[in-house]
Amino acid sequence: MANQDDNLLKKVVAHAKEYGFVFQSSEIYDGIGAVYDYGQYGSELKNNIKTFWWKAMVQMHENIVGIDSAIFMHPTTWRASGHVDAFNDPLIDNKDSKKRYRADTLIEDHVAKIEGKINKEIAKAEKRFGDSFNKDQFVTTNGRIVQYRDQINSINDRMKSAIESDRLHDLKTLIEELVIACAVSGSKNWTDVRQFNLMFSTEIGSLAEGANTVYLRPETAQGIFVNFLNVQRTGRMKIPFGIAQIGKAFRNEIIARQFIFRMREFEQMEMQFFVKPGDEMEWYAHWKNKRIKWHKALGLGEDNYRFHDHLNLAHYANAACDIEFKFPMGFKELEGIHSRTDFDLKAHEEYSGKKLQFFDPQENKNYVPYVVETSIGLDRMFLAIMSSAYKEETLVDGSERTVLKIPAVLAPVKVAVLPLIKKDGLPEKAREIIDELKFNFNCQYDEKDAIGRRYRRQDAIGTPYCVTVDHDSLKDGQVTLRDRDTAEQERIPISELKARVAHLVSINTLLRTI
Ligand code: GAP
Repeated sequence: MANQDDNLLKKVVAHAKEYGFVFQSSEIYDGIGAVYDYGQYGSELKNNIKTFWWKAMVQMHENIVGIDSAIFMHPTTWRASGHVDAFNDPLIDNKDSKKRYRADTLIEDHVAKIEGKINKEIAKAEKRFGDSFNKDQFVTTNGRIVQYRDQINSINDRMKSAIESDRLHDLKTLIEELVIACAVSGSKNWTDVRQFNLMFSTEIGSLAEGANTVYLRPETAQGIFVNFLNVQRTGRMKIPFGIAQIGKAFRNEIIARQFIFRMREFEQMEMQFFVKPGDEMEWYAHWKNKRIKWHKALGLGEDNYRFHDHLNLAHYANAACDIEFKFPMGFKELEGIHSRTDFDLKAHEEYSGKKLQFFDPQENKNYVPYVVETSIGLDRMFLAIMSSAYKEETLVDGSERTVLKIPAVLAPVKVAVLPLIKKDGLPEKAREIIDELKFNFNCQYDEKDAIGRRYRRQDAIGTPYCVTVDHDSLKDGQVTLRDRDTAEQERIPISELKARVAHLVSINTLLRTI
């Protein structure tokens, strides 16, 4: 199973490159680690994901507005936010393989293995007891499972306490006690654990002027916090309200693997929702619910999502969870939902000396709002879509195909128009159809090769609809509309094409469901 999924990731990476979705950055110079470029179809898909998020979060909410803040910010921003002091990963090296790991990830992977054992016990018992199986009772009374649970709790408690109090030596001891071995060398010969800051820095201004160190932002959220008052005042926003933005973020990830899952330059789609202190848990539950609905509306599979509550809360949070997605590497974080308290606004008040408060007319007083944040990585969302969309299939006529079953609303090309042959006025008719559809949809014209091969090419880039123009089309004004997922074909009048395709690929229809 693990192998199959490894294979899936490899296939997705190869397919993404071959069909113009994702390229290694500066590939002609052998690339640069964990940095990627999006090609002609990748950038369309990315834009469509952004539009779906922006519409759902901003356009659908009267009390949420969007901004676009700069990547460079005053360096004090990052002292106030805690990133200079605390945005670190605890790293450990295996002395034999020279491979570097995050110490907490090594321990979490070990815990996941124990959870795997619990799931195996449950599956075995389910098989044995059939319909009479009571899962809740089984997991609380089965001796082995109780023992595994105790082990997990003890490991988690020790890890949490070591991280919170910055006792790196305790993390190493835990790794040694759990007999965790390096996946490459198989040895348990570890270095000490060290903290490593993830922010990239550079200089702004010329050296002659006395250049200042600035950071490439590691999250877009701080651009929202520092603009809290600007937006609240100019937009006459009342609590509760939100500020959203989409933009690049940069982290010097040491263990950058797994394609676009963990990158050094990536994009985030973040929304900070400002609420009255004391109301934050209600809004936290609200946004958990809203965000999971947004994901599930895309139809990538209900079972592909789960919530994971954080044990180790970040320095700014009083509650936090991840929406995890079943990537080819297993369930991993796709989006974070965090109740950030008033940590950020208060810190910026302190460091800037400016008040960042809201006057609440109902309460007749000023307060620093609390914040509930939703934060999703655009590139991870891209990978979630690509990896669940990638299918190798045999069609009813026995032919094989690789198809990307990307949700139609997000597909890079919506309609391909294909003249059956390159003469007899069919290309002209096809172009006429495109000239009408191109105002509404991203269309593609293709006249090369046999029609079957052209369908395969469109399947490979995930085009939901192909329109074939034949000799009859010139006489009866009808074309063949082929559905990517079922490969079924039907004749429809050219005059109905636009309305038909619009309904099938409409983001608005999808937005109504969430
Ligand atoms: N403002 C909160 C924040 O930045 P985070 O959990 O560190 O929280 C939010 O990041 C999301 O950004 C993650 O859920 C993930 O989707 C994405 N993300 C974080 N680091 C990433 C990386 N190195 N490469 C790609 N996406 C990343």
